[in-house]
Amino acid sequence: MAQLEWSDALSLDLPLMDDTHREFVDLLAAVDRAEDAQLPLAWQALVEHTDQHFGQEDAWMASTRFASGNCHSMQHRVVLQVMREGAARAAQGDLQVLRVMASELALWFPQHAQSMDAALALHLRRVGFDPATGVVHAPQALPGELIHGCGGATCSDAADASEDVATASAPREAVA
Ligand SMILES: [Fe+2]
Ligand SMILES: [Fe+2]
Repeated sequence: MAQLEWSDALSLDLPLMDDTHREFVDLLAAVDRAEDAQLPLAWQALVEHTDQHFGQEDAWMASTRFASGNCHSMQHRVVLQVMREGAARAAQGDLQVLRVMASELALWFPQHAQSMDAALALHLRRVGFDPATGVVHAPQALPGELIHGCGGATCSDAADASEDVATASAPREAVA
């Protein structure tokens, strides 16, 4: 099973985002460590944290000229939906689907952080956004048009990554 550990390569020099990402890594590790009996609860904690994590980034984007349907927010929506489907299937007794999804998330997260989240962190620094207060200190740096992409050159690559996680919701014959 793919596992994820925090490393400097995941740091994006935006403290609030980095703290949230560290918590994500910790909660995913807790899922990996969980025995079957504790797995649904550990997964639920990860889902709830991810809901807030993605919601926080979506709100930062909404405050700095991103369109609501931008590809970064759309990827958040797809991944969270898949994670919720996993919780629903686990509730019906299929715990293996959570093991598979956890492994897929460990592969997906570094790609997402180093593409979409990295581009967002760069954008937020450029416009002088203060995540703690929501104040944009350099509004003149905001683009005139709404941003529909994720703001990064790897937009399409990162969008593909959500499909990797999405496939974890499909039944699999062979599971590592
Ligand atoms: Fe993130
Ligand atoms: Fe993100």
